[in-house]
Amino acid sequence: MATIGTDLQRAAQLLQQNELVSIPTETVYGLAGNAYSEKAVVSIFEVKKRPSFDPLIVHTHSLEAARDFLLEIPDAAYALAEKFWPGPLTLILPKQKHVPDLVSAGLDTVGVRMPRHALTLQLLQQLPFPLAAPSANPFGYISPTTAQHVEEQLGAHIPYILDGGPCDIGVESTILGFEGDTVIVHRLGGMAIEDLQQYIKKLEIKPYSSSNPVSPGQLESHYAPRTPLLLGNIQELIQEHGKKGIGVLSFKDTYPETTNITLAPAGDLSEAARNLFKALRELDSMNMRYILAENVPDYGLGRAINDRLQRAAAGSLPTSLSQPADQPHTEL
Ligand code: TXA
Ligand code: MG
Repeated sequence: MATIGTDLQRAAQLLQQNELVSIPTETVYGLAGNAYSEKAVVSIFEVKKRPSFDPLIVHTHSLEAARDFLLEIPDAAYALAEKFWPGPLTLILPKQKHVPDLVSAGLDTVGVRMPRHALTLQLLQQLPFPLAAPSANPFGYISPTTAQHVEEQLGAHIPYILDGGPCDIGVESTILGFEGDTVIVHRLGGMAIEDLQQYIKKLEIKPYSSSNPVSPGQLESHYAPRTPLLLGNIQELIQEHGKKGIGVLSFKDTYPETTNITLAPAGDLSEAARNLFKALRELDSMNMRYILAENVPDYGLGRAINDRLQRAAAGSLPTSLSQPADQPHTEL
């Protein structure tokens, strides 16, 4: 059992001793450890049961502090950080040697971001090192957006969860890399592409696919619930599979006589993103035969939501639709 609280001193003390602490951010909760400590970073991988080829994001309290572990910050990256930090934007940049290879999965770059959460920024300011932090879920499962979610899944393995309330944004950060004069979107996330576009000359969206192994953690079957999730037209899916033992995850419409969670009754994509992972967890806890879900409009945060839904569906695709899938799956 972890202690859940808002004691910054306690959190800082544990991190100084190379213990792990779960931290709130505006996107999802992180599982944080001293980014300069091999011991702390090894524990992160162990607690998450995460494969070592999947690199971690390093969290910092300022662009200046990030210079302590980055080799260089290209002008394009600097301008984006100045504009959008603190915020849900991770930049992949060349790292200095003292960042352990395990943090970056052997790559010579590291992901870095400044989270927009008052409590965590205060914590980072108190520490003489940055924090490596993946999302605080077991590898392959849905990311946590409350302290309680973290407690349910990782509470047995960590001493402290810093409670910063429910996450504002609800999906992970947008990840950008820099190749020559082109900016590559490696992960669609909490920072809408439309908001970035006006500050970037050449932008390419290349989320993980088997032909793009650059973002090693971006496995297709990420964010998967245990219950098979079918993505499509909900009305048609109901006709095919019936209403009994079915959970429905809809965008703004309601589906009577089913167990239905509506993400955003007024059709607001930010609200849908904020509710997405909580709703998936809730439906997943009900032992349903299937979760039926639909895509949301594909702009703004809708792109990140659709990306997560597709990965959830890929992770739980049953081999036979008449049998609920009970197979192990992979994720982040
Ligand atoms: O919103 C977020 O980004 C949350 C909060 C806690 O900050 N963190 C998060 O971390 O989502 P995680 O570990 O679940 O996802 C990190 C992903 C990796 O799976 C990988 O795809 C990408 O970031 N990544 C990290 N370093 C990279 C690198 N050097 N090159 C390419 N991709 C990298
Ligand atoms: Mg993750």
